[in-house]
Amino acid sequence: MGPTPSPPDEAIDLLTGHIGKPTATRLLSDRRGSRAWKIQGPRGAVALKANSPDSVDARDKAAEMAQEDDHLLRLTKAGALSPGYRVDAGAWPGGRWLAVRWIDGTPLWKALAPTRESEGDRASARPRLLRIARTWAEHLARLHAVGWAHADVQPTNTLVTRDVHAAVIDYALACGPPTGPRLPYRGALTHTTAPEIAAAILATPADAHIQATPAADLWSLGASLFWCWTGHRPVTYDDDLPRLEKLRTIAKGSTTAISKVRPWPFSAFEEALTACLSADPAHRPTAQELAAAW
Ligand SMILES: Nc1ncnc2c1ncn2[C@@H]1O[C@H](COP(=O)(O)OP(=O)(O)O)[C@@H](O)[C@H]1O
Ligand SMILES: [Mg+2]
Repeated sequence: MGPTPSPPDEAIDLLTGHIGKPTATRLLSDRRGSRAWKIQGPRGAVALKANSPDSVDARDKAAEMAQEDDHLLRLTKAGALSPGYRVDAGAWPGGRWLAVRWIDGTPLWKALAPTRESEGDRASARPRLLRIARTWAEHLARLHAVGWAHADVQPTNTLVTRDVHAAVIDYALACGPPTGPRLPYRGALTHTTAPEIAAAILATPADAHIQATPAADLWSLGASLFWCWTGHRPVTYDDDLPRLEKLRTIAKGSTTAISKVRPWPFSAFEEALTACLSADPAHRPTAQELAAAW
């Protein structure tokens, strides 16, 4: 293990103009060619992302960082993201960096831990689950209304705030109305990949872009809630299988019956999740319908 990587100086210089001189810096993650830090200043906090300059795919990751910035700018302009979310972005000798407003929240897996227990059906559990699901669907509905799909809906990209709102982060892979060349989308986390996306990945060459749709986000939303509430992923496969083999299983379209793995019965929630996990995208509810139902 080497020293803890520091954030790019170029980013810190510019961010000082937004949050004041940083008083604390914490490395949050260092994986798959990119890093994230929490930078706290006297006037606020940001999440700062930068590509790792020494990773094998540093150039792709820098391009992904630039692409996420483009997505944030376009989504803000379209009214789907609050104007204060994107803070700043730029280049540094190692590649690109991007800063967004800090969201004080707990990743979904941890946030749903109490409801995962067999004794988890406490008075507050049902309204809490529904509120997380509803605010999440509302957020996705805003993206979908302006022609975008998030395309990486999964537990680590969803933070539950203290007032029980699901906040969605990580717009690097989002798919919007085409405006020109982009990094080809080839799915995101395997376990939350919709069956039609899995089928498209298997049927097309590795450099072909697959345009993710709102309906695919709904499958991923259902899969994430299924996984974090029951503790089981909706499609069962051997963890050691190569990614393409797992995708082959997902592409078949069938999922574990939620009644077999739920920690306690909650029929309205189970039915909604099962509808989100329909193999046929046309049979899934829209985000707006789900938000209204919950
Ligand atoms: N706005 C934010 N507020 C709080 N934490 C964040 C925020 N954005 C990112 N993070 C943290 O940084 C991690 C990495 O950020 P993310 O945008 O998901 O990039 P990637 O998954 O590509 O590494 C997240 O899992 C989360 O812990
Ligand atoms: Mg992420």
